[in-house]
Amino acid sequence: MIDTHRLSSQFTCVKKLDSVIDQPSLFGDTVVKSDAAVPNGGGFSDPSFAVNKEIPIHRWVPWIAGFSRNFVSDALSRYLSKPGTVLDPFAGVGTTLVESILAGHDVIGFEINPYAAMACRLKLMAHRVNTEKLRAAIRDFEVFYDHASQNEYRPFSTPPQGFSTRSAFYSPKVLYKVLILQDFLAKNVAGTVRDLFSLAFASTMVSYSNYSYEPSLSRRVTGGKRDIFDFPVGEAITAKLRQMSKDIDWMRDQVGTNAINSRIYNTSFFNCRQHLDSGVVDLMITSPPYLNNYHYNRNTRPHLYWLGFTNAPKDFRPLEQDNFGKYWQTVRELDRLVLDFPNPDAELVRSLELVRAQKPEKGIYGGNGWANYAAAYFNDCYRFLKCAKWTLRRRGTALIVIGNNILQGVMIPTDRYLAKIAESIGLEVVDIHIPRATRIGNSIIQSGVRVGKAKSSDSLYEAVVELRKR
Ligand SMILES: C[S@@+](CC[C@H](N)C(=O)[O-])C[C@H]1O[C@@H](n2cnc3c(N)ncnc32)[C@H](O)[C@@H]1O
Repeated sequence: MIDTHRLSSQFTCVKKLDSVIDQPSLFGDTVVKSDAAVPNGGGFSDPSFAVNKEIPIHRWVPWIAGFSRNFVSDALSRYLSKPGTVLDPFAGVGTTLVESILAGHDVIGFEINPYAAMACRLKLMAHRVNTEKLRAAIRDFEVFYDHASQNEYRPFSTPPQGFSTRSAFYSPKVLYKVLILQDFLAKNVAGTVRDLFSLAFASTMVSYSNYSYEPSLSRRVTGGKRDIFDFPVGEAITAKLRQMSKDIDWMRDQVGTNAINSRIYNTSFFNCRQHLDSGVVDLMITSPPYLNNYHYNRNTRPHLYWLGFTNAPKDFRPLEQDNFGKYWQTVRELDRLVLDFPNPDAELVRSLELVRAQKPEKGIYGGNGWANYAAAYFNDCYRFLKCAKWTLRRRGTALIVIGNNILQGVMIPTDRYLAKIAESIGLEVVDIHIPRATRIGNSIIQSGVRVGKAKSSDSLYEAVVELRKR
């Protein structure tokens, strides 16, 4: 087993897990190597997103499960000695893609969430944006907004109809200001400038709402915070836009104004064969959703409704079905969802059965629902790796950042199971690096759905699974 404790002293925010069920090693004599004895996981930077918050372009949109630009730039310099094609099949808000174009590579991204895909698209075209036009639009907005705020202006825009929340998303005063912005967007700007305004709104919209990320989107009151009765919305938007416009100038200084070879697909990576030829990718750097049921769709509901990507609950269904691993909510009521790929690893099968056997009396909240979720997740690991193998060139590398998790008290070492599936389809497992041996619990841990006793020797970690196409 990987001795994650040897690394944990480097981190101050160690989540101490107080329990895990007694369980023999799930891996027996597995040959997967680890970097447990190497202080920083074999030289990889900590993959967590926090450092991106200060960095031009990356700082445009916070994304809870993003990874750091340093991790990506390390990986690029290690694995690509000359310009190549980099793929991120789960692009999020584009950390891999942006770093890769800065380093002179061609990029391809897939991202199922339309809001995140829009962020990627705008970041990748930033160097071609006319900032004079953008700055003029910011000034126009300031005039419009000030005039409206001081003259009892009556907005004609309305909040998105299908967007219902348990408590009012915005207080009346905040909503009034948001609607002034919507009126300005409807009448005064178009094209890329309009999209940049929408992104500035979307990336700030939760900060003046009565909701916050805890880390899932919840009412502020449930996180012990006060509701927001009023807020300088216009000022927040213009500050964000000015930052974006500065970053655009920075980006142009880095890469010039020529077209860059970048493609972003707002669709599931499982459709890879419809969009890509085989063997076109030199390096894949990615982080799929973890086995923690972090609900990307629910957590971006405000963005998706307010930007007009969704109009009703039914619009979320395809996103839920196609999301990597689906969600516990999507599969918990099924009788018995099983692994549906050839020759699943015996230890994985056994882990899932252990999960399934927990708390049958709890119905859909018991082990069967969670085992269904884990089965859906590993079925998608198989689909993902088949697509990865298809897109990689011979000797091409895939670096997959992934976290383990505990379901119903059963430790699920996702990195190792993913590696086993990769081996089973003929990819070479080069290594499993552990740059971050402990990580903070996530929505699944904090929402109390994790039950059972964990041993103090168990911890959450993030691993980089390094694969190579033979
Ligand atoms: C862990 S995040 C990636 C974050 C990214 N590394 C970054 O720094 O922004 C995983 C992403 O995968 C996306 N996703 C989930 N299922 C997908 C699918 N089937 N195809 C493409 N993207 C998917 C989610 O919307 C989410 O943005």
